[in-house]
Amino acid sequence: MPACDALPRCPQPPEGGVGVTVVALSLVATDGDVADLERLLSAMERIRAERCVPEVRRRFVVGRGRLRLLLSRFVEEPAESIDLRVGSYGKPALGGHLAGRCHFNLTHSRDRGLVAFSRESPVGIDLELPSPSHTPQWAAMMADSILEADELQRWRCLADPLKPAALLEHWVVKEAILKACGRGISGGLRHLPLPVPLARIALPSEREAIDTRLSSVAAESLGSAPTPLDGTAGDGLGVGLLSGDANAFVAVACHALDCRLTYTTFDQAVHGGVGFG
Ligand SMILES: CC(C)(COP(=O)(O)OP(=O)(O)OC[C@H]1O[C@@H](n2cnc3c(N)ncnc32)[C@H](O)[C@@H]1OP(=O)(O)O)[C@@H](O)C(=O)NCCC(=O)NCCS
Repeated sequence: MPACDALPRCPQPPEGGVGVTVVALSLVATDGDVADLERLLSAMERIRAERCVPEVRRRFVVGRGRLRLLLSRFVEEPAESIDLRVGSYGKPALGGHLAGRCHFNLTHSRDRGLVAFSRESPVGIDLELPSPSHTPQWAAMMADSILEADELQRWRCLADPLKPAALLEHWVVKEAILKACGRGISGGLRHLPLPVPLARIALPSEREAIDTRLSSVAAESLGSAPTPLDGTAGDGLGVGLLSGDANAFVAVACHALDCRLTYTTFDQAVHGGVGFG
């Protein structure tokens, strides 16, 4: 039985929908914490970390270590013994006897990370933090590779100062969809049109659960995206843009349109004694 069932405040999804919990985590840690987190990693993860430059290595160790702690809370297994495997396009998932116990997806941007969890459905999440380098000139350079023809036409009509944010919104939504399918962005973003209108969901306050309706992603727009390896739920692929954090662009996708969304922090999820997922 998933650990979540035994805990208070575990949100039950609406009938036919899925529960998705978004957990915010920091990728900043003291040297001592980094050493402790590194001990949770598998041999393969340590080899991967060793190949990175120091700054990237540190963030990977912290992100993966904290992801393991969250998963440990969810499946009630020691963090270091959780079997994490990657799909053919690199998406990590639970393996071995834990396969399918819960779905998750991680995203990071600079020092911040988010993990989406669901018991019922594969999930995808993407976070981009705006930066001074996201100028209208940057947007003009990137637009062709992110927007499909109609989107590009509409986007070009925007005033220059609005263009970077509009582009980042398209970016995170498309990436969340492709990450929910496990495909990643190697097939390109511009072939994937966004659903119109796009669901904009106010991020719930901490530990509050909200029922929301995601926008439906047309199956044909996914082209050659593989069906998720670990099963689908509900009535199609849904996506929404999470608003409420003015300093971040965040989108979440799952294999259902009705979704009970909960938001919490790493500390609350690991130490706070509340269920999540
Ligand atoms: C996954 C991908 C979209 C990440 O983009 P990004 O904006 O740089 O990174 P994000 O922070 O949003 O997400 C990274 C996380 O997504 C997860 N991830 C990796 N591959 C994934 C995939 N195919 N689908 C969903 N999630 C994936 C991982 O947890 C990764 O974090 P980690 O590197 O610390 O393990 C991009 O790297 C990609 O397209 N990968 C697929 C590449 C591919 O086809 N590889 C073939 C391997 S044989």
